[in-house]
Amino acid sequence: METILIRNVRAADSLRDAVCDMLLKDGKIAAIGAHIEAETDRVIDGTGLAALPGLFDMHVHFRDPGQTHKEDVYTGTAAALAGGVTGVLCMPNTTPPMDNPEQVREFLSRAKTTGVDVHQTGTLTVGLKGEQLADYEALKAAGVTALSDDGRPVPTAEMMKAALAKAKEAGLPVVSHCEDLAIINGGIINKGAVSEALGVKGMDRLSEDSITERDLQMALETGAQLHICHVSTRGSTDAVRKAKAAGGNVSCETAPHYFLLTDELLLKRDADYRMNPPLRTPDDVAAIKEGILDGTIDCIITDHAPHTAAEKADFEKAPNGVVGLETSLAATLTAFYHTGLLTLQDIVRLMSDNPRRLLHLPARTLEEGQPADLILVDLNRKWTVDPEKLHSRSHNTVFKGMTFTGKVLTTITGGVVRYEAERISEKG
Ligand code: DOR
Ligand code: ZN
Ligand code: ZN
Repeated sequence: METILIRNVRAADSLRDAVCDMLLKDGKIAAIGAHIEAETDRVIDGTGLAALPGLFDMHVHFRDPGQTHKEDVYTGTAAALAGGVTGVLCMPNTTPPMDNPEQVREFLSRAKTTGVDVHQTGTLTVGLKGEQLADYEALKAAGVTALSDDGRPVPTAEMMKAALAKAKEAGLPVVSHCEDLAIINGGIINKGAVSEALGVKGMDRLSEDSITERDLQMALETGAQLHICHVSTRGSTDAVRKAKAAGGNVSCETAPHYFLLTDELLLKRDADYRMNPPLRTPDDVAAIKEGILDGTIDCIITDHAPHTAAEKADFEKAPNGVVGLETSLAATLTAFYHTGLLTLQDIVRLMSDNPRRLLHLPARTLEEGQPADLILVDLNRKWTVDPEKLHSRSHNTVFKGMTFTGKVLTTITGGVVRYEAERISEKG
């Protein structure tokens, strides 16, 4: 394994934000400090770049097994590495779903060669059917990191309460997709002025808000660890804030599209702007931002949900979901760092420290002795999202054509360079 010296880089993690040299050797950070002298195979000039711990995205869909024409563990992790993401938690709505310990073992063993720290959720209910609870002890023994029925809600409060109690016994966090299917009733975008203008069925925010309230209440009653998925409304942000104040062992996440975009984009009648929960209103965007700034929202995730261009061609019939792994840091830097709302260390907390902490995984810092899992970022490089250039097998990005400031140039895991962007500045 080559030794790498990174010179004159701005290293930012939970402990520091300072310019220094870093020496990577035998898969570890061998030294970090001013002016390191060492014989190395490779020297990277970090002048003007930031070094951050590898990001962790605790909400991705890799479609493996069963829908690998959309993505698989190899293309999904390639997209992750290109986005500076060195750890992921995969959702269980594969085909068949991840309720089977053997399937979990097989997936995790294939993921080992990817250079990404791949984690898998087990299902909360058998077959994601919401009828009977899965075998959490067996799933835990197979290696799952958390439990979720993501893609679907657990149908009743009673069943969610039982799931939380059983997950608590197994020592696993529950990750909940909060949606009331009776309220959704065939809706495809946020219910409001835009859905009316388009004459399509809307998804009322009450669907998200009411099930978020329900699940938080069940978490308070059981004392179990609950993480609310993809918060998109003012109401559900407020509900999480209250449950935290009440002492619940609860947390939540949002995705860049919920703090950067609104449902007005749907006027284009383009299914690439459709996901679940849907893009909402300017007031929701403001609430999501407030939630990030006051610590109510713990993590920025992508809900990376690949779908084919053919499926996305029909605005009304297309499946929900957008890819996001290759744009999440750039989008977050653009919205929060370059506007002065968050520091680099805050962003590391939201995109690396908190997800790892919530999943009970070891922290990643840039200290001596830590695994060399880190990224080099040109914070000031402007680039425009071109769906055709994504490493994901699917190109359904909601950010197509948008220009961001901040680009991942190098991703290193286990001391090995796994991804390098072109250093020459790209046009457009
Ligand atoms: O937009 C979404 N896509 N939301 C979900 O809950 C599921 C996901 C998917 O699997 O495509
Ligand atoms: Zn979901
Ligand atoms: Zn999801």
